[in-house]
Amino acid sequence: MSQPRRSPHDSYETETTDHQIDTETILLKHLPLNPDSPSPLQKDAHLQFLVRNLIQGFPSRYIGQDASQPWLLYWTLQSFSVMGVGMDPNNKQKAIDTIMAWQHQNGGFGGGPGQAAHLLPTYAAVCALAIVGRPGPGGGWDQIDREKMYEFFISVKQSDGAFLVAHHAEVDVRGTYCLLVAAHLLNILTPELLEGVPASIMSCQTYEGGFSSASQPYFSPEPEGPPTLLDSPRPPLGEAHGGYTFCSSCPSVQKPSLNFKTLLRWLVQMQGSEIELGGFKGRTNKLVDGCYSWWVGGCFALLSSLGIVGAHGQDEAWNDVDDSVWDRAALQRYILCAAQHPAGGLRDKPPKPADSYHTLYCLAGLSTAQHNIFLSSTRQDAIFRCWKTPPESTHEQLRQACFAHSLSWTEEEGTSRILGVQNNRMVIYCAFFHGRSD
Ligand code: FPP
Ligand code: ZN
Repeated sequence: MSQPRRSPHDSYETETTDHQIDTETILLKHLPLNPDSPSPLQKDAHLQFLVRNLIQGFPSRYIGQDASQPWLLYWTLQSFSVMGVGMDPNNKQKAIDTIMAWQHQNGGFGGGPGQAAHLLPTYAAVCALAIVGRPGPGGGWDQIDREKMYEFFISVKQSDGAFLVAHHAEVDVRGTYCLLVAAHLLNILTPELLEGVPASIMSCQTYEGGFSSASQPYFSPEPEGPPTLLDSPRPPLGEAHGGYTFCSSCPSVQKPSLNFKTLLRWLVQMQGSEIELGGFKGRTNKLVDGCYSWWVGGCFALLSSLGIVGAHGQDEAWNDVDDSVWDRAALQRYILCAAQHPAGGLRDKPPKPADSYHTLYCLAGLSTAQHNIFLSSTRQDAIFRCWKTPPESTHEQLRQACFAHSLSWTEEEGTSRILGVQNNRMVIYCAFFHGRSD
C-alpha cells in the first residue's frame, strides 16, 4: 500500500508547520493495515475511565476547573447515553442531588455550589438533569426554578440579540446556544428571548464561512462619540472556529439567512486528509483533534435539517450537494484508531492523555459519522397531532413548533454505516439538544 501524501507546504518553516509534520508522523503510525478493520471500540475501558474520572474529580492542579463541575458530570452522563448505557436509580439520585446543589437562588446554575449563575454550566446542568432527572418530588426536573431561570436569561440579554454568558461577563455565541437549549428543554422559550438572535448569530459568520465567537455589537466612527448600534453588517470578532460554528448552526424555527455555501465549504475543508486519518480540525491551519468530530462533524446533520446536505424532500437551497461531501468512514477511522487511548477514554490525538470532554465529543462524533439523520416531516406532523388543543398564544405556538422540530430527528432506514465490528455502534445522537433521539 502506498503511503499517504504529506500536507503540502511552502518550505517556510514555522512552529505551525513543525507541529503539522510531527502530528502527521504520529498519526501515520496509527493507520490500520486494513482501512476497513479499525481498532474496535473499547466500550468497557471507556466506561471505567469515565467513572474513575468522575469519582476522582479534577486533580488539584486544575483548580481553575472548579467552575466546571456540571460539565464533568454532563460529559460523563452523556457519554453513557451515547454508548447506550443506563444507570441505576441510586446513582441517578446522587447525580440529581449533586446537580440541584448548583442551582443559584436568583436563577440559573453555577459551576459549583454557591457559585454565580452562568449560561454554560446552566446548559450542562439542565442537560445532565434531562438524562438522570424525573418529574415529581426529589426528581430535580420540577425543582428547577423556571421563573427565576427566565429572569436570569432576560437579565443577560443584550439589545443586539446576543447574550452575556453571566452578569458582568462577555458575550459569546456559546452562551446563546446554551441558553436556547436550556430554555427549550425547560419550556420557557419566548419570542422575547429569541428577538434579534438570528441577526446576532448571522453577524458572526466570517469571510471563511465558519463562525467566530461574537461580533462587534457597537461601532462608533467618532472616538469621542457614543457607541452606535449597527443594523447590519456588524463585523465579526475573531476567527471562524468549529466550536462556535456548531453553536451558530443550530436550527431554530426561524430559518436564518446564512451564507450556506461558504459554511458548507468551510466545514468540508476542516476534514483532515488521509495522512491525518480524516479527523477534523477546528480552524484553518490548525491540527486535527478528536473533539471536532462532533463540533464540526455534527454540523452536517444540522445543515441537512435546513435542507442543505442530502435530499430528504425538504426545500433545498443547494440540491446538487449530497452526503458524500464529507468522509464518514475516515472520521470513524480517526476516532477508533487515533483517538482511543489504550488505557481507556478518548483524546484529542496521540500521544495526549484521555479526558472526559474528549471522550464525549469523540463518541458523539462517532455517532454522527455512523448515522445519517435528518428531520422527518412525517414525524413532525405526527408529533403535532399529539397536541389535543391548538396553541392559544404565539408563545405556545413557538414552543410546540420547537418541540416538534427537535423530536423529529430520524435515521433513514438502512443508511447507517458502522466501520468495523457492530459493537462499535453508537446510539443516534440528536444534533440540536444533545439528547438521544431513539
Ligand atoms: C480554541 O482552542 C477553542 C476555542 C476558541 C473555543 C472552542 C469552542 C467550543 C469547543 C464550543 C464549546 C461549546 C459549548 C456549548 C460550550 P485551541 O486553540 O486550544 O484549539 P485549536 O487549535 O483546535 O483551535
Ligand atoms: Zn479538543
